[in-house]
Amino acid sequence: RKGKTPEEVVKRYLQKVRNPPEEDCTICMEPLGSPSGYKGPGVNSVSRGESVGRLVTCGHQYHLQCLVAMYNNGNKDGSLQCPTCKTIYGVREPLATSHPDYRTIRIIYNIPPGIQGPEHPNPGKPFTARGFPRHCYLPDSEKGRKVLRLLLVAWDRRLIFSVGTSSTTGESDTVIWNEVHHKTEFGSNLTGHGYPDPGHLDNVLEELRAQGITEEEGLQR
Ligand code: APR
Ligand code: ZN
Repeated sequence: RKGKTPEEVVKRYLQKVRNPPEEDCTICMEPLGSPSGYKGPGVNSVSRGESVGRLVTCGHQYHLQCLVAMYNNGNKDGSLQCPTCKTIYGVREPLATSHPDYRTIRIIYNIPPGIQGPEHPNPGKPFTARGFPRHCYLPDSEKGRKVLRLLLVAWDRRLIFSVGTSSTTGESDTVIWNEVHHKTEFGSNLTGHGYPDPGHLDNVLEELRAQGITEEEGLQR
């Protein structure tokens, strides 16, 4: 993969098209029979001889120059995705993550249902507890361990969860997260709470500070 020019990468996934159809290239919107409308840098050196190519698996056709321009705008990992049908050519490198070299800390919170106390919205009334045990992830880095220590302080002060109405389920009198965001989905991000997330540790430190928990307190615990 290394050492291949963008044009060479793109051409691996293309068949030559001698007589382009009377259709527009959907990258530049110019006819396939005319030159590429793409004027950006890096494509002037692309061969003019074979101006149109057909992607080998899906058959969609584009100007070679347009595909090279598109490839150059991406992460250039040797793979190519058809902009029309999303077929992927080649092997995609996993996206670089924020903490690729760290092991992962898993926090498991478990809270049983119970009866609300005087600090809860409806004292004496039962509360439910859904989705427990809840699993959460942090990078096992110095900063991640610092956040862990502060989360333990927050837990001791009963600031991680509260009882109220879940904005996700609409259920009232139930245990809900309390303004300190946790990453509860490992390796994907369908919920918006996926791990890893580059900004997460700074966000949590900010949220903990808003709850009155500072970095000095983490040292004392
Ligand atoms: N993971 C982490 N945080 C979440 C999640 C989640 N899956 N869902 C909501 N939050 C955050 C919200 O962004 C908000 O800031 O928790 C806060 C309170 O949201 P609610 O929906 O009221 O919280 P809760 O009902 O506790 O969470 C619903 O989270 O862990 C899961 O099993 C749990 O599916 C349930 C979901
Ligand atoms: Zn084009």
